Amino acid sequence: MKSYQIHNNQLRSIESPIPSCSEQQVLVKMYALAINHRDYLVVNGISRWKLTEQGRVPVADGAGEIVAIGSGVTDLNIGDRVSSLITPNWQDGEMTAEKLQGSPGGPSADGVAAQYVLFNSQGVIKIPDYLSYQQAAALPCAALTAWNAMVEKSDLKPGHTVLILGTGGVSLFAMQFALMMGCEVIVTSSSDKKLAQVKKWGAHHTINYKTNPQWTDEVRLLTGGEGVHHIAEVIGGSHLNLSLKCIRSGGTIAQIGAMQGVVEGYVDTAEIMYNAVNIKGVEVGSKAMHGRMLKAMSVHQMKPIIDRDFAFQDLAAAIEYQGSGSQIGKITIKVNSDE
Ligand SMILES: NC(=O)c1ccc[n+]([C@@H]2O[C@H](COP(=O)([O-])OP(=O)(O)OC[C@H]3O[C@@H](n4cnc5c(N)ncnc54)[C@H](OP(=O)(O)O)[C@@H]3O)[C@@H](O)[C@H]2O)c1
Repeated sequence: MKSYQIHNNQLRSIESPIPSCSEQQVLVKMYALAINHRDYLVVNGISRWKLTEQGRVPVADGAGEIVAIGSGVTDLNIGDRVSSLITPNWQDGEMTAEKLQGSPGGPSADGVAAQYVLFNSQGVIKIPDYLSYQQAAALPCAALTAWNAMVEKSDLKPGHTVLILGTGGVSLFAMQFALMMGCEVIVTSSSDKKLAQVKKWGAHHTINYKTNPQWTDEVRLLTGGEGVHHIAEVIGGSHLNLSLKCIRSGGTIAQIGAMQGVVEGYVDTAEIMYNAVNIKGVEVGSKAMHGRMLKAMSVHQMKPIIDRDFAFQDLAAAIEYQGSGSQIGKITIKVNSDE
């Protein structure tokens, strides 16, 4: 079988035998992968995503069919359609540092960029019939993070206003969940073409943050001067100051992002204090949250927005394309094409 490894910030294609399951494992024939900004950071060794050892298999998100199971696995069967989990050790309950360990395709564990992948049976989740492998592969990291930020960690009510920053993977899922909850949605982007597209998908207001440097004033105008109830802060660092200009008193900023690996910056803490802003750190989510997200998506027949599907041999180009930010929607990879 073919797989990829990262060596000195380059992807290397590897040939190896298909592995066999131990007692608690399942073997998944992968049909699709999906790329996140995180994969770009890991492969390029940026900031805290720099690998400490060479040879790590990249990419966190993927979906496929179980083709073999270990003798101790009781809740899964051959033929089940499953996806990976972004934090397989966080099954439920409160997050802990220990539960975050072992996230695939990151510094602490191999990812899923292979034609066949062995998973611990707890490390996969069954996917609904209405989603294709490509669509299900798009969910583990970006959709779950957006779900956690917009639903699990929020007090959003129908009619509340939400600010979505940019049109990246997490942001578009956050937009879809906010619309699902009946919120009024403002989306920013550097591209008028992308803004026209998000309007078609249901966004109520759009602002170009590149051509309108005073875009935070525009957000306040759109909310009658009050500011929005909730922001998915996917940029990180001192961008938080701009989000603080857009939030209403008592509103919530879900702190999610580290674009280009930026994890620190100057922050006007007085703005947080005077406006009693709730800043909630969001780190992906648990398997139980993933299950609740799939249930809600199924009820609404919500599908991920996919920009482009690459061939498996073009994985490096797909990760570079993710880093360029020119996509609108998820970038997926077709792995085994006999589906
Ligand atoms: N905390 C967590 O658990 C978690 C999980 C997943 C992702 N993340 C983080 O969340 C962020 C988004 O990840 P992703 O995979 O969705 O990224 P992505 O798809 O690569 O997002 C790229 C988009 O971000 C937008 N953007 C970049 N700079 C911007 C700015 N200054 N203002 C507004 N928009 C800007 C651009 O939108 P336009 O082209 O429309 O301008 C760009 O297309 C990353 O920082 C990632 O590391 C965190």
